[in-house]
This record gives sequence, structure tokens and C-alpha cells, in this order.
Amino acid sequence: MNLRKIIGEDIYWIGINDRKTQRFENYLPLPYGVTYNSYLIDDEKVCLIDTVETGSSAEFLRKIKHVIGERKIDYLIVNHMEPDHSGAMGEIMEMFPEIKVVGNMMTLKMIKAFYHDFDENRFQAVKEGEELNLGRHTLVFATIPMVHWPESMVTYDKTEKILFSNDAFGGFGALNGGLFDDEVEFNDFKDEMRRYYANIVGKYGMQVNKAISKLGSLDIKYICPSHGLLWKEKVGTVIKLYSDWANFIPEEKGVVIAYGTMYGNTEKMAEIIAKELFDSGIKNVKIYDVSKTDSSIVISDVWKYQGLILGSCAHNNALYPKMLPVVEKLKNYGVKNRYLGIFGNMMWSGGGVKALDSFAAETKGIEKVGESVEAKGAPTEEIISKLKKLAKEMADKILA
Ligand code: FEO
Repeated sequence: MNLRKIIGEDIYWIGINDRKTQRFENYLPLPYGVTYNSYLIDDEKVCLIDTVETGSSAEFLRKIKHVIGERKIDYLIVNHMEPDHSGAMGEIMEMFPEIKVVGNMMTLKMIKAFYHDFDENRFQAVKEGEELNLGRHTLVFATIPMVHWPESMVTYDKTEKILFSNDAFGGFGALNGGLFDDEVEFNDFKDEMRRYYANIVGKYGMQVNKAISKLGSLDIKYICPSHGLLWKEKVGTVIKLYSDWANFIPEEKGVVIAYGTMYGNTEKMAEIIAKELFDSGIKNVKIYDVSKTDSSIVISDVWKYQGLILGSCAHNNALYPKMLPVVEKLKNYGVKNRYLGIFGNMMWSGGGVKALDSFAAETKGIEKVGESVEAKGAPTEEIISKLKKLAKEMADKILA
């Protein structure tokens, strides 16, 4: 049974590795799986911190039984009501009828939305900074609104200096034996952590900054999130990463080229730009065909690099359909501090480049680089030289 005593004598990781679900929230691909981390504190009062996704509860309940046998759980802390963490709440409440469900007043509203017959007498509301004593452990609660739901909160164990941070500092990727950052190769997880951040939390950078500032007063020895690796050695590293991501500070110098093509001409244009970027000194050039690569991967790299060049052919006088999710997400997430170049293709009335130009004009915080380049069919010598100029101007910005 994959459970583990993680810190001190009485804290267990009883999470679930999910390598079966194809898409998180039914739309984000999970090539390396995902975990639903849950923690059991086996103190004088037994306390469960968050549960797991619906469908993972059988193994989860077996783990709980393995630790506590016939004893009962006194408290269920609900840091966040999204069903990847509250999915097994129903079973837990049924199995432990006397359990107190602990959350804030916003949590209660959401519990009642998910469980219409929830008995409010089972709920223990906690306020900002309120403490809950379990015996050896004292827990204290802090809200982190909109990181990434209104009711989101974290639980800090004053005894062991652990921040149970729920989604914050979490990442995609199932755990392959090791749980803590010092037991595995961090770089294997970093991309999936950024992809999680960008696509789940990314819109709420301002709120992430507030949360980091609020949690800054705590002496944090461990961060135990609800997805992915547990942080011990890299507590400072992941807080810095979160802060940089929240403020759109790029990790490395580089450029993402994302294009949508039907007959290959827009693709040819992307290749010309990439070669010129490389020749101009940009080593990190990531090219994505948006018909093949999921938008979440493109978005994650937009968070990593400061340069973005979007290319779209025209489709029914509009943007290429597979480019839509990329552009819509960038708009919705309020991407900032990025340079944007635009290119594309048309045959009669165009539409792809026009839509990208509108996106650039509407999006504050994006600086358009160079002139948009639109080809008619196969790129001519004139178009090739315009594409090279665009690439050179982008490289100059990035390397400045
Ligand atoms: Fe991991 Fe917002 O749920």
C-alpha cells in the first residue's frame, strides 16, 4: 500500500497517484498523471487534511483504515472545495458521522452547493488566524482568496512548521516513489509544475502575490501541497518561482512560436522565423503546431519565455480554429510583460493575421514587435525577408 509517514511520528501522506485520468478538469491533458495529496495527522485528535478526487476514494479509504484501524477521524480540514480534493468528502462524512468539517464561511456555501443535504451542525467555521489544537499539533488557518477559488485556504502546522498549501505550489505529474523534492530530480517535475500554475492559477497573479506576502511571516520548513511533490529542500526555490510566475518574470531568454497551418505555408513561415531567431543568438526557440500540441503546453512556455510569435492562416475570414484556445487563454489569463510578433497566411480576404492584430491591440501588457507579416500562399522572397526582419527585431528585444 503506497502510504508513508512523512514528517515526525504522526503525519502520513495518504494521497493517490492517478495515471488513468486522461484530462484534468476534463480538458487539460495529463501525460505524466497527477496526484491528489491528502494528509492524515494521527494525533490525540485525528485530523484529515483534504481528500481526493471522486473515483479514487476506495484506495484512499483503505489507506485511512490502515493507519487508524477502527478509530475515528475527528476533523476534516477542507482547504479547497474543488472536487479533486473534496471528491471523497461524501464517503468520509458517511464513514465518520461525528467528524467535524472545518473550513471558512465561503467553504460552507460551496459544501452546500455540492452536498445539498449537508447538515450545518457538522461544520466548524474557522476565521483567519484561528487555531485548532489536536494534542501535539496546533493548526492555524489562513485564507488565500482566488488562489485559485474564493474559499481557498491553507493550513499551517505550528508544531512541525508545515504549510499544507492545497493547490498553491502544486504541480501535475504523478509521484514515482519519492515524495519530497530531495528524493527525486526536480527538473523532471518543473515543467509540469509550471504548466499547472499557468493554466490553473495563472490568471490570479495579484492574489498569489498577496498570498505570498501573507505567508511570508510564517517559519515554513515544509510545504505539502495537494498535487505533486512535497517541498523540503526547495521551499525557497518554489516560493521564488511562484513569485516570478505571478509577476510574469521570464525564467530564461527564449521565444515561443505557435502557429496554425492547413497546407503548410504558415509552418514554413514559422521555420524561417525560428532559423533567424537562432542565427540572431536565441538558443531557446520552441515551435508548436497548435493543431497537435495542447494549448496548456504552449501557455506554460509563454510563462517561461518572454518572446511570443503567433502565426495563423485564415479560416472563414477569421482566426484558425485551433489557434483560438491559445489566444482566448492568453486574453483570459491577462498575460503581461511579453513581446509579441505576428505572422500568417491568407488566400482571398484573410482574417487570421487581422484577428491576431486585434488581440495585440486589446491586450495591455503585451508589446508588439515589428510589423505583422501576412503571406498569400507560399512565402515569396519579399515575405521571407519580412519574416527575418521580424525575427531579428524579436531577438534584439529578448537579448537587450
Ligand atoms: Fe486541485 Fe483547484 O483543485
